[in-house]
Formats: sequence, structure tokens, C-alpha cells
Amino acid sequence: MDAFSFWVAGVMVYVAVAVLVLGLAWRLYQWRRLAASPMRLGIFPKPRGGAKALRIVADTLVFPQAAEVNAPLWLAVFLFHLALLGVFVGHLRLLGRFPEFLEVKMSESAHLAGGTMGIVLVVTLFYFLIRRFKSPSKELSVPEDYLLLILLLGVVVMGDHLRLFAEIPFSAYRQYVASLLALRPEFGPEIAASPYKTALVVHVLLANLLFIYLPFSKLVHFIGAFLTNGIRRS
Ligand code: HEM
Repeated sequence: MDAFSFWVAGVMVYVAVAVLVLGLAWRLYQWRRLAASPMRLGIFPKPRGGAKALRIVADTLVFPQAAEVNAPLWLAVFLFHLALLGVFVGHLRLLGRFPEFLEVKMSESAHLAGGTMGIVLVVTLFYFLIRRFKSPSKELSVPEDYLLLILLLGVVVMGDHLRLFAEIPFSAYRQYVASLLALRPEFGPEIAASPYKTALVVHVLLANLLFIYLPFSKLVHFIGAFLTNGIRRS
């Protein structure tokens, strides 16, 4: 591994994951310490038993209330999250093998599914970005809103670049991630000799920046949304 790759796709990954985990733990700790509201914040009617858990999950994952306000935006946000979940599951394959039948199915459909989800992510992110340049979102946007979308676009475009063009076997990516887990980061010969090595290092660099920034950004809503919907339905 050359020095740049070692620092960015090796050492920096450990730093980024540590900041992500500790940062999220710190945010949760801070939220726990907030004084409880003196008023009831739940909405009527109050669901009971299992219905409550279902409502919280549906409010968080499908957010039907947003569809009534702005249907196109709701659709884009829904597709974006669905694709993000798909890409997250796809990335879990880098960590190790799934049960054999799933492994076979996933590797058969990886190119089409990964490619489709990657494109959905790019299209929806562009839509979110363009929306921010138009009134009334423009007046309500702060620099962080643009910065986050651009960072996400960077990660996703580089990921798509790898997915659609790099002819690196998946086993080589797995080897690299296994070396990270073994605390001895290195690229095997297929990645080291590939002209797409830089694309991989840039993808990982931007993902690292995202991990480091995430606990301190509005993206922590991926935990907060469950908690606030829990309060709304309590
Ligand atoms: C250190 C963390 C990460 C590593 C090591 C990594 C590695 C990879 C690799 C090796 C590929 C190519 C897979 C293939 O062609 O078979 C890929 C694709 C991709 N990555 Fe990442 N990635 C990371 C984080 C992320 C994050 C945080 C996002 C999104 C926010 C992301 C989004 C994508 C997308 C959209 C693709 C293309 C579609 C797909 O193959 O699933 N990656 N990534």
C-alpha cells in the first residue's frame, strides 16, 4: 500500500469509525440529560400496545404525514432512504460472507441492484440540491444543508464510479476490508495494480469525512427520528 492509501484507506478509517461511534454515544448521552417536557407531547389518538410500536416504525420509515404536504418530495425522500438501506446491506457483504443461498442471490444481482440503487441516490441527491437553490427552501437553507448534500453526492458518485466501471473482483475488496479488521490495512495485487485504486481511496476518504461529521450534523436524525416519533405517539 502506498503512503497516501495507507493513511486514508487505513489509519483514517479507524479514526472515522471511532469518532462515529463515540460521537453518536455522546449525542445519545446529551439527549438523555435533557429535562423532560412538563407537557404531554403525544398526538391524539393514542395508539395502544403493539399498534404503538408499529406507528413509530411507520412514522419513521414511511413518514405518511410528509406525503400530504409535498408528494414529489416525499417520494424522492422515500426512494433515497430505500436505496441507502439497499446500499448499506450491499456494503455488509464487504465484511464477510452471508449464508450461502443469500450470498449466491446477492452476488448474482449485485451489479444490477447496486447500480440501480447508486443511480437512484445520485438522482435524488441532485433533486434535493436543486431544490435548495429555489424559493422558499433557498431562504430557509444554511451552508450545512448544501455541504452535506455535496459530501453525500461525492461519496455516492465515487461509489457508482467503482460499481459501474472498475473491473476489480469483489473478493479483492473483501480482502482489503478483512485486512482493515485485522488491523493490518493493505491492498491486494488486484487493487494495487488497478487504475481504479485512486477512485476507491477517494470513495473511502469521503466516506470517512461523512462518518466524522455525521454525529455533529443533522444526519443524527436517523436515531432522533425514532425517539421523537416515540414521543409523538406516547
Ligand atoms: C469506509 C467505508 C466504505 C467503504 C470501504 C466502501 C467501499 C465500496 C466499494 C468497494 C464499492 C464497490 C462495490 C462493487 O463494485 O462491488 C462501493 C460502492 C458504493 N458505495 Fe461505498 N464504501 C464505504 C462507504 C460508503 C458510504 C458511507 C456510502 C453512502 C453514503 C457509500 C455508497 C456507495 C455507493 C452508492 C456505491 C455504488 C453502489 C453499490 O455498489 O452499492 N459507500 N463502496
